[in-house]
Amino acid sequence: MVYLNGRWMPIEEASIPVLDRGFIFGDGVYEVVPVYGRKPFRLEGHLARLEASLKAIAIANPHTREEWRALVAEIIARQPFDNQGVYFQVTRGVARRDHAFPRNAKPTVFMMSNPLATPSAETYAKGVACVTAVDNRWLRCDIKSTSLLGNVLMRQFAAEHDALETVMFRDGMLTEASASNVLVVKDGVILSPPQGNLMLPGITLDAAIDLARAAGLPLTMRPISEAEVRGADELWLSSSTKEVLPITRLDGVPVGHGETAGRPGPMFARIRAAFDAAKAAL
Ligand code: PDD
Repeated sequence: MVYLNGRWMPIEEASIPVLDRGFIFGDGVYEVVPVYGRKPFRLEGHLARLEASLKAIAIANPHTREEWRALVAEIIARQPFDNQGVYFQVTRGVARRDHAFPRNAKPTVFMMSNPLATPSAETYAKGVACVTAVDNRWLRCDIKSTSLLGNVLMRQFAAEHDALETVMFRDGMLTEASASNVLVVKDGVILSPPQGNLMLPGITLDAAIDLARAAGLPLTMRPISEAEVRGADELWLSSSTKEVLPITRLDGVPVGHGETAGRPGPMFARIRAAFDAAKAAL
């Protein structure tokens, strides 16, 4: 069952008017929350980011934090499977087509939940291939907007090159990947680009940072150059649907040096163990 504007229904019955600004302009924001054993992971972080995204594009939040929590709990309960990816989006609503905000539109709220498709054990063990590109998206990548054309084209570029993701650089510095954040390991230190308008403040990234700190792994947030990415000991992707996943080939070149070149590294094993423990403790 999916949720649309206050009602529960089978997805086949959920439809929206063609003048919804989500359809016409991509004028909306969204969230994806992973759920393990029917328990949402880092829900408060996702709800706080939703609030920030709505505020950034001046859509009045249609629900209180408590109401959002209740909706997420209800959609989880309504699915017949335990591990879920809860997707929800809010658009500015239905109005005659005009770029400027309509005066009285009511936000559209849509929510669905699918089986959580995390990568297989083999994928975690082998790592994944990524390609790179210049980040040509807009300058508000901190808003989790449904206007995803830039990301769609980047992800398609990866797919056409038998890669999972496209890692992006803006002005020679790492931003993020098509649908994930990117972490770098060099000389035993985990590096992440500083938060700002050039990348999404990832909730899984937040979790990875907290877990790394709790495990005593050194971590620095600072600008990271393209050369540092290409010379990294380890590269990781993070996202709600991928957890933390090692990149083992970048533009066809094995990631890392020596024995672990082209294979997940020792720091990955530590963050992965911490992540698994956090999931088990939910
Ligand atoms: N994508 N950066 C981008 C551009 C993303 O689209 C995502 C997530 C992330 C990671 O954020 P988080 O850890 O909060 O999932 C970073 C989601 C999963 C998606 O669009 O399906």
